[in-house]
Amino acid sequence: MVEKSELVSRIKALKEERQAVILAHYYTRPEIQELADYIGDSLALAQIAARLKEPVIVLCGVNFMADTAKILCPDKTVLLPDTEAGCSLADSCPADEFKRFVEAHPDHMVISYVNTSAEVKALSDLLVTSGNARKIVDSLPKDQKIIFGPDRNLGNYINGVTGREMLLWDGACHVHEQFSAEKLVELKREHPKARVLAHPECKKPLLMLADTVGSTAALLKAATEAPAGSEFIVVTESGILHEMRRLCPDKTFIPAPPTDSTCACNDCAFMKLNTLEKLAACLENMAPEITVDPAIAERARKPIERMLALS
Ligand code: 13P
Ligand code: SF4
Repeated sequence: MVEKSELVSRIKALKEERQAVILAHYYTRPEIQELADYIGDSLALAQIAARLKEPVIVLCGVNFMADTAKILCPDKTVLLPDTEAGCSLADSCPADEFKRFVEAHPDHMVISYVNTSAEVKALSDLLVTSGNARKIVDSLPKDQKIIFGPDRNLGNYINGVTGREMLLWDGACHVHEQFSAEKLVELKREHPKARVLAHPECKKPLLMLADTVGSTAALLKAATEAPAGSEFIVVTESGILHEMRRLCPDKTFIPAPPTDSTCACNDCAFMKLNTLEKLAACLENMAPEITVDPAIAERARKPIERMLALS
């Protein structure tokens, strides 16, 4: 087995050679986040990809993030260390079924969460991430009829905070759906001073127990801005804990547990497919490379660019 330090040196050398930039989501493994040129939430990764000069982007995240980067940067080579890195939320919204739903409501504007396939993006008028959904929906006329897909939990949350009645697609993320409200109540009892940070992909009972609801970047910001010595219960994928602990060594972060598991935290197996070995191999081989059908990419680019302009 190759030593970790050797792999890291190889990745750094290959990165230079290929003029590549490594982008990583907060849910990836700590060793990937430490090596990345940029780490961020879905919104930040799209914003960074859009402004990069280098010819090669290695997206350590999942398929929909790599697709977004490729759609925004059609002339660049976009690599994803493991193309099996899918997303249950994106999979909960097959494009043909979503198309029928959209066609059944021709007077509705279509807003999609970025966690969707390129085909679903191409069926949308506007994209959002968990970091800008509230602001973007708020910016639209109050009487605008809206379809929101695919995440019913984020959609419900945005309906609640904006007073809208968006028509929701019935999709969800299997990781965030697994958090248990009962276990969270228990954990709050054990840590009465802890503030609860929750991602809006969680179900409503969890969000009702939260002090801050937001994207991974927003939760990180809430943690960094809190006074020294603060305690937090974190209700999202466990990868974010690494950056929280790195930025706030004087604060305590407690992962919220999933239902039906003895495991203390909740991982996205897709995100964890990004390993140092695969990152090195993908820079070595310049593969797997992400491709998006140019006609679909052309249609999907408009709602993404519209989102970036409104963010
Ligand atoms: P954000 O990156 O918007 O916080 O969303 C989290 C997510 O589910 C990515 O998989
Ligand atoms: Fe998809 Fe959920 Fe994993 Fe994010 S955490 S990539 S929404 S399955």
